[in-house]
Amino acid sequence: MGETAGDRSAATGPAGAVWTPASWRELPAAQPPGWPDPDAVASVLAELASEPPLVFAGEARTLTRSLGNVVAGNAFVLQAGDCAESFSDQAADQIRDKLRVILQMAVVLTYGAGVPVVKLGRIAGQYAKPRSSPTERVGDVEMNSFRGHIVNDDAPIPSARVPDPRRMLAAYHRSASTLNLLRAFTKGGFADLSQVHAWNQEFVATSAEGRRYEAIAEEIDRTLRFMRACGVDLSAGAPIQQVDFYTSHEALLLDYEEALTRRDSLTGRYYDCSAHMLWIGERTRQLDGAHVEFLSGVGNPIGVKLGPSTDPAEVIELCERLNPEREPGRLALIARLGISKVTTVLPGLVRAVRDAGHPVVWECDPMHGNTFTAEGGRKTRHFDDVLGEIRGFFAVHRAEGTWPGGVHVELTGDDVTECLGGVEDILEEQLPLRYTTTCDPRLNARQSIDLAFRVAELLRA
Ligand code: PEP
Ligand code: CO
Repeated sequence: MGETAGDRSAATGPAGAVWTPASWRELPAAQPPGWPDPDAVASVLAELASEPPLVFAGEARTLTRSLGNVVAGNAFVLQAGDCAESFSDQAADQIRDKLRVILQMAVVLTYGAGVPVVKLGRIAGQYAKPRSSPTERVGDVEMNSFRGHIVNDDAPIPSARVPDPRRMLAAYHRSASTLNLLRAFTKGGFADLSQVHAWNQEFVATSAEGRRYEAIAEEIDRTLRFMRACGVDLSAGAPIQQVDFYTSHEALLLDYEEALTRRDSLTGRYYDCSAHMLWIGERTRQLDGAHVEFLSGVGNPIGVKLGPSTDPAEVIELCERLNPEREPGRLALIARLGISKVTTVLPGLVRAVRDAGHPVVWECDPMHGNTFTAEGGRKTRHFDDVLGEIRGFFAVHRAEGTWPGGVHVELTGDDVTECLGGVEDILEEQLPLRYTTTCDPRLNARQSIDLAFRVAELLRA
């Protein structure tokens, strides 16, 4: 590290200007955090720039190759985690339980897809949130909207909502400790295949809905017995128990992302070392905007969210801009269209990309197009809409001859009541029981595993 804006890479932006980690600053950035004191921001950024990177560029390249297998239809992606990670989470247990759900889902999906599942957490850095309005009214009081714990606090009082740049340092350190624990769990035996399968069997045994998956669970069980009989070592600590788990978050707060962008000594390329994969949100994907500019120049695999108003020509321009070399695995298009639009909007997007010959990973985010406000004023989503959008996504890809590359979901390992329906059929009047998200409603552990079994059924169909 050490190189900053003066150090040029070869890439050029739309106006032919040279890309640098700071070139986004010349362009309009949607969703600005509204820092009150520029000097305080500068000193935090200088401090961040001197901290070690969180991930190694070589890991990002390995992930790109794995995602390249998804493009070719030889792997599937599961990208999952919180809408917004919280500074007040009780770190260890919550990280463990979230990882556990993702691993459980991945085992079920691997079996369903018959191909490897690339595991990507919305974790260890998912602290910045775009908002539909910069301010909100709570009772009679107008205040800044909550923008994620990397910017301000979620408490509904104006003083808590004042943006504080020192939160970027806290987010960095929390990301580092979260990532450290994830690496320990995934390399140290927690991801033991037999153990993950035992958790799934417990799910199957303890719910009425789970019974419908008895057959799949029994087949997985038989496969594990077969592997052991063939001499495959499935004990904890054996190489097969080491899982590759990658981190991702929305690259929304470009101050932070720039400070963690480093030049890789092996290739000379810049990588955003705050996470393995970064994505651009639906609200910040302007072709002439700062976010597209910034991510166009980093070597990581990247994603772009596509909402229902997306135009096919716009998607092609995004592909040209973000993946001009047409490297498979570099770019994921994450459609979040809603159950009512997926079958009408997605075909045009898929055809345009396919016909232009752009290699992309197609992911389905069945959460963000299906949010509504329930009777009591809480934001929620119905499990049936989430599943319905995934069904539509699979149907479109089957019809177009393209590969439904993966799913992108918001979940938690906690037993929350934030999304309706699912195995325990959560009802509107139950939402207040355990509604703890600081942003969007998440699937709880049982809803998530139920969803994985359903997607496995779709993959096998
Ligand atoms: C999110 O993923 O939490 C999010 C804000 O999504 P989108 O950009 O698709 O609205
Ligand atoms: Co969200």
